[in-house]
Amino acid sequence: MNDGLKSKIIAAGQAHLLRYLEELTPEEERSFVEQLEAVDWEQIPQLAKDYVMTRPEITIPEDLSPARFFPLIPGDDRSAELYRAARAKGKELLENGKVCCLTVAGGQGTRLGFDGPKGTYPIGPVSGRTLFEYFAGAVARTSEKYGKQLNWYIMTSPINREATESFFKAKNYFGLPQESVFFFTQGTMPAFGTDGKLLLASKNSLALSPDGHGGTLLALRKSGALAKMVADGNEYISYFQVDNPLVPVADPLFIGLHALENSEMSAIMLSKTNSREKLGNFCVSGGRTMIIEYSDLPEELAEKRNADGSLAFVAGSPAIHVLSRSFVEKLTSGGTLRLPWHRADKKIPCLNAAGEAVVPAEPNGVKLESFIFDALPLAEKVMILEGDRAEVFAPTKNATGVDSAESCRMMISSRNARRLAAAGVEIPAGKDGAVDAVIEISPFEVIDDADAAALVKETGLKKILPGSMVAL
Ligand code: UTP
Repeated sequence: MNDGLKSKIIAAGQAHLLRYLEELTPEEERSFVEQLEAVDWEQIPQLAKDYVMTRPEITIPEDLSPARFFPLIPGDDRSAELYRAARAKGKELLENGKVCCLTVAGGQGTRLGFDGPKGTYPIGPVSGRTLFEYFAGAVARTSEKYGKQLNWYIMTSPINREATESFFKAKNYFGLPQESVFFFTQGTMPAFGTDGKLLLASKNSLALSPDGHGGTLLALRKSGALAKMVADGNEYISYFQVDNPLVPVADPLFIGLHALENSEMSAIMLSKTNSREKLGNFCVSGGRTMIIEYSDLPEELAEKRNADGSLAFVAGSPAIHVLSRSFVEKLTSGGTLRLPWHRADKKIPCLNAAGEAVVPAEPNGVKLESFIFDALPLAEKVMILEGDRAEVFAPTKNATGVDSAESCRMMISSRNARRLAAAGVEIPAGKDGAVDAVIEISPFEVIDDADAAALVKETGLKKILPGSMVAL
Protein backbone atom coordinates (compact mmCIF):
# COMPACT_ATOMS: atom_id res chain seq x y z
CA MET A 1 0.00 0.00 0.00
CA ASN A 2 1.42 3.37 -0.92
CA ASP A 3 2.33 5.88 1.78
CA GLY A 4 -0.04 8.53 0.40
CA LEU A 5 -3.08 6.34 0.98
CA LYS A 6 -1.77 5.22 4.39
CA SER A 7 -1.35 8.80 5.58
CA LYS A 8 -4.83 9.78 4.40
CA ILE A 9 -6.31 6.89 6.39
CA ILE A 10 -4.27 7.77 9.48
CA ALA A 11 -5.13 11.48 9.18
CA ALA A 12 -8.81 10.50 9.07
CA GLY A 13 -8.38 8.80 12.46
CA GLN A 14 -8.79 5.31 10.98
CA ALA A 15 -5.34 3.77 11.52
CA HIS A 16 -6.95 0.61 12.98
CA LEU A 17 -7.90 -0.42 9.45
CA LEU A 18 -4.22 -1.05 8.71
CA ARG A 19 -3.79 -3.41 11.65
CA TYR A 20 -3.70 -6.63 9.60
CA LEU A 21 -1.79 -5.30 6.62
CA GLU A 22 1.31 -7.39 7.37
CA GLU A 23 -0.73 -10.60 7.36
CA LEU A 24 -2.25 -10.11 3.90
CA THR A 25 -1.15 -11.86 0.72
CA PRO A 26 -0.31 -9.50 -2.18
CA GLU A 27 -3.66 -10.40 -3.80
CA GLU A 28 -5.60 -9.67 -0.60
CA GLU A 29 -3.78 -6.39 -0.19
CA ARG A 30 -4.56 -5.41 -3.79
CA SER A 31 -8.31 -5.84 -3.35
CA PHE A 32 -8.21 -4.01 0.00
CA VAL A 33 -6.31 -1.08 -1.53
CA GLU A 34 -8.87 -0.89 -4.32
CA GLN A 35 -11.64 -0.56 -1.73
CA LEU A 36 -9.76 1.96 0.37
CA GLU A 37 -8.95 4.13 -2.63
CA ALA A 38 -12.66 4.52 -3.37
CA VAL A 39 -13.31 6.13 0.05
CA ASP A 40 -13.40 9.92 0.39
CA TRP A 41 -11.05 10.08 3.39
CA GLU A 42 -11.33 13.83 3.83
CA GLN A 43 -15.04 13.45 4.44
CA ILE A 44 -14.78 10.64 7.02
CA PRO A 45 -13.91 12.63 10.21
CA GLN A 46 -16.72 15.10 9.56
CA LEU A 47 -19.24 12.31 8.90
CA ALA A 48 -18.15 10.53 12.09
CA LYS A 49 -18.56 13.77 14.04
CA ASP A 50 -21.87 14.90 12.54
CA TYR A 51 -23.71 11.62 12.09
CA VAL A 52 -22.14 8.98 14.34
CA MET A 53 -20.71 10.57 17.48
CA THR A 54 -23.70 12.90 17.65
CA ARG A 55 -27.20 12.26 16.38
CA PRO A 56 -28.00 14.72 13.62
CA GLU A 57 -30.69 17.16 14.71
CA ILE A 58 -33.60 17.46 12.31
CA THR A 59 -34.64 21.09 12.02
CA ILE A 60 -38.15 21.58 10.79
CA PRO A 61 -38.50 24.86 8.88
CA GLU A 62 -40.77 27.43 10.53
CA ASP A 63 -42.71 28.05 7.34
CA LEU A 64 -43.47 24.39 6.59
CA SER A 65 -46.76 23.97 4.75
CA PRO A 66 -48.46 21.05 2.99
CA ALA A 67 -47.49 20.59 -0.65
CA ARG A 68 -50.15 21.15 -3.33
CA PHE A 69 -51.03 18.29 -5.58
CA PHE A 70 -53.20 17.39 -8.54
CA PRO A 71 -56.13 15.33 -7.20
CA LEU A 72 -56.91 11.83 -8.44
CA ILE A 73 -60.22 13.00 -9.90
CA PRO A 74 -60.03 16.39 -11.62
CA GLY A 75 -62.19 18.87 -9.71
CA ASP A 76 -63.58 20.88 -12.63
CA ASP A 77 -63.82 21.00 -16.43
CA ARG A 78 -60.54 22.85 -16.83
CA SER A 79 -58.65 20.24 -14.81
CA ALA A 80 -60.43 17.45 -16.68
CA GLU A 81 -59.24 19.00 -19.92
CA LEU A 82 -55.69 19.25 -18.55
CA TYR A 83 -55.73 15.56 -17.56
CA ARG A 84 -57.00 14.63 -21.05
CA ALA A 85 -54.20 16.64 -22.64
CA ALA A 86 -51.66 15.11 -20.23
CA ARG A 87 -52.76 11.55 -21.10
CA ALA A 88 -52.40 12.37 -24.79
CA LYS A 89 -48.97 13.91 -24.16
CA GLY A 90 -47.83 10.88 -22.15
CA LYS A 91 -49.03 8.55 -24.92
CA GLU A 92 -47.16 10.59 -27.52
CA LEU A 93 -43.96 10.51 -25.42
CA LEU A 94 -44.24 6.74 -24.99
CA GLU A 95 -44.90 6.21 -28.70
CA ASN A 96 -41.87 8.31 -29.58
CA GLY A 97 -39.48 6.49 -27.23
CA LYS A 98 -38.96 9.52 -24.98
CA VAL A 99 -39.56 7.52 -21.81
CA CYS A 100 -37.52 4.86 -20.03
CA CYS A 101 -38.11 2.92 -16.81
CA LEU A 102 -35.84 2.73 -13.81
CA THR A 103 -36.12 0.20 -10.99
CA VAL A 104 -34.02 0.70 -7.89
CA ALA A 105 -33.05 -2.75 -6.68
CA GLY A 106 -29.84 -2.18 -4.76
CA GLY A 107 -31.33 -2.40 -1.26
CA GLN A 108 -30.47 -5.18 1.14
CA GLY A 109 -34.06 -6.14 1.90
CA THR A 110 -33.16 -7.07 5.46
CA ARG A 111 -36.73 -6.76 6.75
CA LEU A 112 -38.06 -9.29 4.24
CA GLY A 113 -35.38 -11.73 5.33
CA PHE A 114 -35.12 -13.33 1.88
CA ASP A 115 -31.86 -14.81 0.71
CA GLY A 116 -31.21 -13.22 -2.68
CA PRO A 117 -31.98 -9.97 -4.50
CA LYS A 118 -35.47 -8.79 -3.52
CA GLY A 119 -36.54 -8.70 -7.17
CA THR A 120 -36.17 -12.49 -7.30
CA TYR A 121 -38.73 -12.91 -4.51
CA PRO A 122 -41.78 -14.98 -5.61
CA ILE A 123 -44.69 -12.61 -5.05
CA GLY A 124 -47.30 -13.94 -7.51
CA PRO A 125 -50.20 -15.12 -5.30
CA VAL A 126 -50.93 -18.15 -7.50
CA SER A 127 -48.01 -18.64 -9.87
CA GLY A 128 -45.24 -17.45 -7.56
CA ARG A 129 -43.86 -15.23 -10.32
CA THR A 130 -41.14 -12.93 -9.06
CA LEU A 131 -41.17 -9.18 -8.51
CA PHE A 132 -38.79 -8.76 -11.46
CA GLU A 133 -41.16 -10.75 -13.68
CA TYR A 134 -44.04 -8.43 -12.72
CA PHE A 135 -42.07 -5.42 -13.92
CA ALA A 136 -40.76 -7.25 -16.99
CA GLY A 137 -44.34 -8.14 -17.92
CA ALA A 138 -45.52 -4.56 -17.45
CA VAL A 139 -42.55 -3.23 -19.45
CA ALA A 140 -43.31 -5.70 -22.25
CA ARG A 141 -47.04 -4.94 -22.33
CA THR A 142 -46.50 -1.15 -22.12
CA SER A 143 -44.00 -1.37 -24.99
CA GLU A 144 -46.49 -3.38 -27.04
CA LYS A 145 -49.33 -0.98 -26.27
CA TYR A 146 -47.43 2.09 -27.44
CA GLY A 147 -45.59 0.38 -30.28
CA LYS A 148 -42.16 1.29 -28.94
CA GLN A 149 -39.75 -0.80 -26.87
CA LEU A 150 -39.20 0.77 -23.45
CA ASN A 151 -35.66 0.75 -22.13
CA TRP A 152 -35.50 -0.62 -18.59
CA TYR A 153 -32.70 0.46 -16.25
CA ILE A 154 -32.11 -1.64 -13.15
CA MET A 155 -29.92 -0.35 -10.36
CA THR A 156 -28.21 -2.98 -8.23
CA SER A 157 -25.59 -2.73 -5.51
CA PRO A 158 -22.11 -4.26 -5.88
CA ILE A 159 -23.40 -6.94 -3.50
CA ASN A 160 -26.36 -8.12 -5.61
CA ARG A 161 -25.28 -7.15 -9.15
CA GLU A 162 -23.99 -10.57 -10.12
CA ALA A 163 -26.97 -12.46 -8.67
CA THR A 164 -29.42 -10.06 -10.32
CA GLU A 165 -27.86 -10.24 -13.75
CA SER A 166 -27.51 -14.03 -13.61
CA PHE A 167 -31.19 -14.27 -12.72
CA PHE A 168 -32.19 -12.26 -15.79
CA LYS A 169 -29.90 -14.34 -18.00
CA ALA A 170 -31.34 -17.58 -16.62
CA LYS A 171 -34.85 -16.26 -17.33
CA ASN A 172 -33.83 -15.14 -20.81
CA TYR A 173 -34.68 -11.55 -19.86
CA PHE A 174 -38.34 -12.64 -19.62
CA GLY A 175 -38.52 -12.32 -23.38
CA LEU A 176 -37.47 -8.66 -23.43
CA PRO A 177 -34.82 -7.68 -25.99
CA GLN A 178 -31.56 -8.01 -24.07
CA GLU A 179 -30.30 -4.63 -25.28
CA SER A 180 -33.33 -2.91 -23.72
CA VAL A 181 -32.34 -4.03 -20.20
CA PHE A 182 -29.45 -2.09 -18.71
CA PHE A 183 -27.97 -2.94 -15.30
CA PHE A 184 -25.92 -0.43 -13.39
CA THR A 185 -24.32 -0.46 -9.96
CA GLN A 186 -24.74 2.09 -7.21
CA GLY A 187 -22.01 3.33 -4.90
CA THR A 188 -21.23 2.14 -1.38
CA MET A 189 -20.52 3.77 1.95
CA PRO A 190 -18.33 2.32 4.69
CA ALA A 191 -20.17 1.50 7.91
CA PHE A 192 -19.11 3.12 11.19
CA GLY A 193 -18.90 1.63 14.65
CA THR A 194 -20.65 3.73 17.29
CA ASP A 195 -17.22 5.12 18.27
CA GLY A 196 -16.78 6.68 14.82
CA LYS A 197 -14.27 4.07 13.66
CA LEU A 198 -14.97 2.35 10.35
CA LEU A 199 -15.81 -1.34 10.66
CA LEU A 200 -13.86 -4.12 8.95
CA ALA A 201 -15.82 -7.00 7.41
CA SER A 202 -12.62 -9.04 7.27
CA LYS A 203 -8.90 -8.39 7.62
CA ASN A 204 -8.80 -7.06 4.08
CA SER A 205 -12.24 -5.57 3.52
CA LEU A 206 -14.34 -2.75 4.90
CA ALA A 207 -17.92 -3.33 6.00
CA LEU A 208 -19.55 -1.57 3.06
CA SER A 209 -23.22 -1.04 2.34
CA PRO A 210 -25.12 0.48 -0.60
CA ASP A 211 -25.25 4.28 -0.37
CA GLY A 212 -29.07 4.53 -0.46
CA HIS A 213 -31.47 5.15 -3.35
CA GLY A 214 -30.17 8.71 -3.45
CA GLY A 215 -27.07 7.08 -4.94
CA THR A 216 -29.13 6.46 -8.09
CA LEU A 217 -28.47 9.92 -9.49
CA LEU A 218 -24.70 9.79 -9.48
CA ALA A 219 -24.68 6.12 -10.45
CA LEU A 220 -26.76 6.98 -13.53
CA ARG A 221 -23.99 9.28 -14.67
CA LYS A 222 -20.98 7.19 -13.63
CA SER A 223 -22.34 3.99 -15.20
CA GLY A 224 -22.96 5.53 -18.61
CA ALA A 225 -26.73 5.09 -18.21
CA LEU A 226 -27.33 8.82 -18.79
CA ALA A 227 -25.19 8.70 -21.92
CA LYS A 228 -27.21 5.73 -23.19
CA MET A 229 -30.44 7.64 -22.52
CA VAL A 230 -29.10 10.52 -24.61
CA ALA A 231 -28.13 8.16 -27.42
CA ASP A 232 -31.56 6.50 -27.33
CA GLY A 233 -33.50 9.79 -27.06
CA ASN A 234 -34.99 8.96 -23.64
CA GLU A 235 -35.89 12.23 -21.90
CA TYR A 236 -38.10 11.09 -19.04
CA ILE A 237 -37.27 8.51 -16.40
CA SER A 238 -40.14 6.61 -14.78
CA TYR A 239 -38.69 5.66 -11.37
CA PHE A 240 -40.03 2.97 -9.04
CA GLN A 241 -38.93 0.57 -6.32
CA VAL A 242 -38.36 -3.14 -6.65
CA ASP A 243 -40.75 -3.91 -3.79
CA ASN A 244 -43.98 -2.62 -5.39
CA PRO A 245 -45.44 -4.92 -8.07
CA LEU A 246 -48.62 -2.81 -8.43
CA VAL A 247 -46.75 0.21 -9.76
CA PRO A 248 -47.60 1.29 -13.31
CA VAL A 249 -44.14 1.14 -14.92
CA ALA A 250 -44.90 4.09 -17.18
CA ASP A 251 -48.20 5.88 -16.57
CA PRO A 252 -49.15 8.19 -19.46
CA LEU A 253 -51.10 10.63 -17.24
CA PHE A 254 -48.25 10.98 -14.73
CA ILE A 255 -45.58 11.35 -17.42
CA GLY A 256 -47.73 13.69 -19.51
CA LEU A 257 -48.51 15.99 -16.55
CA HIS A 258 -44.82 16.04 -15.64
CA ALA A 259 -44.00 17.19 -19.17
CA LEU A 260 -46.86 19.71 -19.55
CA GLU A 261 -46.08 21.25 -16.15
CA ASN A 262 -42.38 21.55 -17.05
CA SER A 263 -41.57 19.66 -13.88
CA GLU A 264 -38.01 18.53 -13.24
CA MET A 265 -38.96 15.88 -10.72
CA SER A 266 -42.48 14.64 -10.09
CA ALA A 267 -44.01 12.40 -7.48
CA ILE A 268 -47.12 10.35 -6.87
CA MET A 269 -48.77 11.06 -3.52
CA LEU A 270 -51.22 8.92 -1.59
CA SER A 271 -53.69 10.32 0.92
CA LYS A 272 -52.50 9.08 4.29
CA THR A 273 -54.91 6.75 6.07
CA ASN A 274 -54.04 8.24 9.48
CA SER A 275 -51.88 11.00 10.90
CA ARG A 276 -48.97 8.69 11.82
CA GLU A 277 -48.94 6.47 8.75
CA LYS A 278 -45.34 5.53 7.94
CA LEU A 279 -45.03 7.49 4.72
CA GLY A 280 -42.84 10.52 4.06
CA ASN A 281 -44.84 13.76 3.98
CA PHE A 282 -44.81 16.11 0.99
CA CYS A 283 -44.22 19.61 2.33
CA VAL A 284 -43.13 23.02 1.08
CA SER A 285 -40.72 25.50 2.63
CA GLY A 286 -39.30 28.62 1.04
CA GLY A 287 -41.01 27.68 -2.22
CA ARG A 288 -39.21 24.32 -2.37
CA THR A 289 -40.88 20.93 -2.18
CA MET A 290 -39.45 18.47 0.30
CA ILE A 291 -40.28 15.27 2.08
CA ILE A 292 -40.28 15.19 5.85
CA GLU A 293 -40.11 11.64 7.14
CA TYR A 294 -43.04 10.46 9.24
CA SER A 295 -40.83 10.12 12.28
CA ASP A 296 -39.61 13.74 11.92
CA LEU A 297 -42.95 15.48 11.40
CA PRO A 298 -43.83 17.20 14.69
CA GLU A 299 -46.98 15.91 16.38
CA GLU A 300 -48.86 19.21 16.02
CA LEU A 301 -48.26 19.26 12.26
CA ALA A 302 -49.08 15.57 11.82
CA GLU A 303 -52.36 16.14 13.66
CA LYS A 304 -53.19 19.49 12.05
CA ARG A 305 -56.61 19.46 10.37
CA ASN A 306 -58.32 21.40 7.61
CA ALA A 307 -61.70 23.04 8.25
CA ASP A 308 -63.46 19.87 7.02
CA GLY A 309 -61.55 17.69 9.51
CA SER A 310 -59.20 16.13 6.93
CA LEU A 311 -55.47 15.97 7.59
CA ALA A 312 -53.59 19.14 6.56
CA PHE A 313 -50.41 17.17 5.85
CA VAL A 314 -52.24 14.47 3.97
CA ALA A 315 -49.80 13.75 1.15
CA GLY A 316 -47.70 10.63 1.75
CA SER A 317 -44.98 9.36 -0.56
CA PRO A 318 -44.99 5.85 -2.09
CA ALA A 319 -41.64 6.61 -3.80
CA ILE A 320 -42.94 6.72 -7.36
CA HIS A 321 -41.35 9.45 -9.47
CA VAL A 322 -40.72 10.84 -12.90
CA LEU A 323 -37.42 12.61 -13.38
CA SER A 324 -36.39 14.61 -16.40
CA ARG A 325 -33.11 13.32 -17.72
CA SER A 326 -31.93 16.94 -18.02
CA PHE A 327 -32.48 17.36 -14.25
CA VAL A 328 -30.27 14.37 -13.44
CA GLU A 329 -27.68 15.70 -15.92
CA LYS A 330 -27.74 19.11 -14.23
CA LEU A 331 -27.44 17.71 -10.69
CA THR A 332 -24.52 15.45 -11.53
CA SER A 333 -22.75 17.64 -14.10
CA GLY A 334 -19.57 18.03 -12.02
CA GLY A 335 -19.36 14.25 -11.47
CA THR A 336 -20.37 14.74 -7.83
CA LEU A 337 -23.60 15.23 -5.92
CA ARG A 338 -23.92 15.78 -2.20
CA LEU A 339 -27.37 14.84 -0.98
CA PRO A 340 -27.84 14.88 2.80
CA TRP A 341 -26.98 11.68 4.66
CA HIS A 342 -29.47 9.81 6.79
CA ARG A 343 -28.31 7.74 9.74
CA ALA A 344 -29.54 4.19 10.38
CA ASP A 345 -28.43 2.18 13.40
CA LYS A 346 -27.93 -1.40 12.26
CA LYS A 347 -26.56 -4.78 13.22
CA ILE A 348 -23.41 -4.94 11.13
CA PRO A 349 -21.37 -8.14 10.91
CA CYS A 350 -17.72 -7.19 11.44
CA LEU A 351 -14.40 -8.02 13.09
CA ASN A 352 -14.24 -7.30 16.80
CA ALA A 353 -11.22 -5.83 18.58
CA ALA A 354 -9.67 -9.30 18.81
CA GLY A 355 -9.98 -9.75 15.04
CA GLU A 356 -12.77 -12.33 15.29
CA ALA A 357 -15.78 -12.21 12.97
CA VAL A 358 -18.96 -11.40 14.91
CA VAL A 359 -22.62 -11.20 13.95
CA PRO A 360 -24.10 -8.82 16.51
CA ALA A 361 -27.50 -9.41 18.09
CA GLU A 362 -28.00 -5.68 18.73
CA PRO A 363 -27.21 -2.64 16.57
CA ASN A 364 -23.46 -2.05 16.76
CA GLY A 365 -22.94 0.55 14.12
CA VAL A 366 -24.20 3.18 11.78
CA LYS A 367 -24.94 3.07 8.07
CA LEU A 368 -25.28 6.28 6.12
CA GLU A 369 -27.62 6.49 3.16
CA SER A 370 -28.85 9.23 0.88
CA PHE A 371 -32.45 9.33 -0.34
CA ILE A 372 -33.75 10.12 -3.82
CA PHE A 373 -36.45 12.41 -2.43
CA ASP A 374 -33.78 14.81 -1.19
CA ALA A 375 -33.44 15.81 -4.84
CA LEU A 376 -36.96 17.33 -4.74
CA PRO A 377 -35.85 20.64 -3.12
CA LEU A 378 -33.18 20.93 -5.81
CA ALA A 379 -35.79 20.95 -8.58
CA GLU A 380 -36.99 24.28 -9.96
CA LYS A 381 -40.42 22.74 -10.54
CA VAL A 382 -42.04 19.75 -8.87
CA MET A 383 -45.37 18.21 -9.89
CA ILE A 384 -47.29 15.99 -7.47
CA LEU A 385 -50.18 13.81 -8.60
CA GLU A 386 -52.50 11.87 -6.35
CA GLY A 387 -52.52 8.12 -6.93
CA ASP A 388 -55.14 5.51 -6.07
CA ARG A 389 -53.54 3.39 -3.38
CA ALA A 390 -55.37 0.17 -4.25
CA GLU A 391 -54.18 0.52 -7.84
CA VAL A 392 -50.56 1.55 -7.45
CA PHE A 393 -49.04 0.69 -4.09
CA ALA A 394 -48.40 -2.63 -2.37
CA PRO A 395 -44.88 -2.53 -0.89
CA THR A 396 -43.21 -5.79 0.10
CA LYS A 397 -41.10 -4.75 3.06
CA ASN A 398 -41.75 -7.46 5.64
CA ALA A 399 -42.46 -11.18 5.54
CA THR A 400 -45.77 -10.84 7.40
CA GLY A 401 -48.05 -8.11 8.75
CA VAL A 402 -48.14 -4.54 7.50
CA ASP A 403 -46.46 -3.87 4.12
CA SER A 404 -45.61 -7.52 3.77
CA ALA A 405 -45.45 -10.17 1.09
CA GLU A 406 -48.77 -11.37 2.51
CA SER A 407 -50.54 -8.01 2.23
CA CYS A 408 -48.99 -7.44 -1.19
CA ARG A 409 -50.37 -10.73 -2.55
CA MET A 410 -53.79 -9.82 -1.23
CA MET A 411 -53.65 -6.43 -2.92
CA ILE A 412 -52.59 -7.98 -6.23
CA SER A 413 -55.55 -10.33 -6.04
CA SER A 414 -57.98 -7.54 -5.03
CA ARG A 415 -56.89 -5.30 -7.88
CA ASN A 416 -57.37 -8.16 -10.30
CA ALA A 417 -60.81 -8.85 -8.86
CA ARG A 418 -61.78 -5.22 -9.30
CA ARG A 419 -60.55 -5.18 -12.91
CA LEU A 420 -62.44 -8.36 -13.74
CA ALA A 421 -65.59 -7.10 -12.02
CA ALA A 422 -65.38 -3.90 -14.07
CA ALA A 423 -65.26 -6.10 -17.16
CA GLY A 424 -68.47 -7.85 -16.07
CA VAL A 425 -67.06 -10.97 -14.38
CA GLU A 426 -68.92 -12.25 -11.32
CA ILE A 427 -66.58 -12.16 -8.32
CA PRO A 428 -67.35 -14.21 -5.19
CA ALA A 429 -67.44 -12.31 -1.89
CA GLY A 430 -66.96 -13.83 1.56
CA LYS A 431 -69.01 -12.90 4.64
CA ASP A 432 -66.77 -9.90 5.36
CA GLY A 433 -67.28 -8.61 1.82
CA ALA A 434 -63.69 -9.42 0.81
CA VAL A 435 -63.03 -11.32 -2.42
CA ASP A 436 -63.38 -15.07 -1.78
CA ALA A 437 -60.76 -16.22 -4.30
CA VAL A 438 -57.11 -15.64 -5.13
CA ILE A 439 -56.75 -14.14 -8.59
CA GLU A 440 -53.60 -13.58 -10.57
CA ILE A 441 -53.47 -12.07 -14.05
CA SER A 442 -50.36 -12.07 -16.22
CA PRO A 443 -48.73 -8.63 -16.33
CA PHE A 444 -47.62 -9.52 -19.87
CA GLU A 445 -51.30 -9.34 -20.87
CA VAL A 446 -52.97 -6.85 -18.56
CA ILE A 447 -51.70 -3.52 -17.24
CA ASP A 448 -55.00 -1.62 -17.08
CA ASP A 449 -58.78 -1.93 -17.16
CA ALA A 450 -58.92 -1.89 -20.96
CA ASP A 451 -56.53 -4.86 -21.14
CA ALA A 452 -58.61 -6.71 -18.54
CA ALA A 453 -61.79 -6.10 -20.55
CA ALA A 454 -60.06 -7.42 -23.69
CA LEU A 455 -58.90 -10.53 -21.82
CA VAL A 456 -62.40 -11.22 -20.50
CA LYS A 457 -63.86 -10.85 -23.99
CA GLU A 458 -61.24 -13.13 -25.50
CA THR A 459 -61.57 -15.86 -22.87
CA GLY A 460 -65.34 -15.57 -22.37
CA LEU A 461 -64.76 -15.62 -18.60
CA LYS A 462 -68.08 -15.19 -16.79
CA LYS A 463 -67.42 -15.91 -13.12
CA ILE A 464 -64.77 -16.81 -10.57
CA LEU A 465 -65.72 -19.70 -8.30
CA PRO A 466 -65.76 -19.15 -4.52
CA GLY A 467 -62.56 -20.26 -2.80
CA SER A 468 -60.72 -20.80 -6.10
CA MET A 469 -57.13 -20.00 -7.04
CA VAL A 470 -57.13 -18.57 -10.55
CA ALA A 471 -54.21 -17.65 -12.81
CA LEU A 472 -55.14 -15.92 -16.06
P1 UTP B 1 -35.87 0.21 1.40
O1 UTP B 1 -35.86 1.50 2.08
O2 UTP B 1 -37.08 -0.61 1.54
O3 UTP B 1 -34.59 -0.60 1.84
O4 UTP B 1 -35.58 0.47 -0.13
P2 UTP B 1 -34.14 -2.09 1.57
O5 UTP B 1 -32.67 -2.10 1.75
O6 UTP B 1 -34.64 -2.63 0.26
O7 UTP B 1 -34.85 -2.95 2.69
P3 UTP B 1 -34.51 -3.06 4.25
O8 UTP B 1 -34.69 -1.68 4.81
O9 UTP B 1 -33.11 -3.58 4.38
O10 UTP B 1 -35.53 -4.03 4.75
C1 UTP B 1 -36.52 1.07 -0.96
C2 UTP B 1 -36.10 0.83 -2.40
O11 UTP B 1 -34.85 1.43 -2.65
C3 UTP B 1 -33.91 0.48 -3.12
C4 UTP B 1 -34.44 -0.86 -2.65
O12 UTP B 1 -33.95 -1.91 -3.45
C5 UTP B 1 -35.93 -0.65 -2.78
O13 UTP B 1 -36.34 -0.80 -4.11
N1 UTP B 1 -32.59 0.80 -2.56
C6 UTP B 1 -32.44 1.03 -1.23
C7 UTP B 1 -31.53 0.84 -3.40
O14 UTP B 1 -31.66 0.61 -4.63
N2 UTP B 1 -30.30 1.11 -2.88
C8 UTP B 1 -30.11 1.37 -1.57
O15 UTP B 1 -28.96 1.63 -1.17
C9 UTP B 1 -31.21 1.33 -0.72
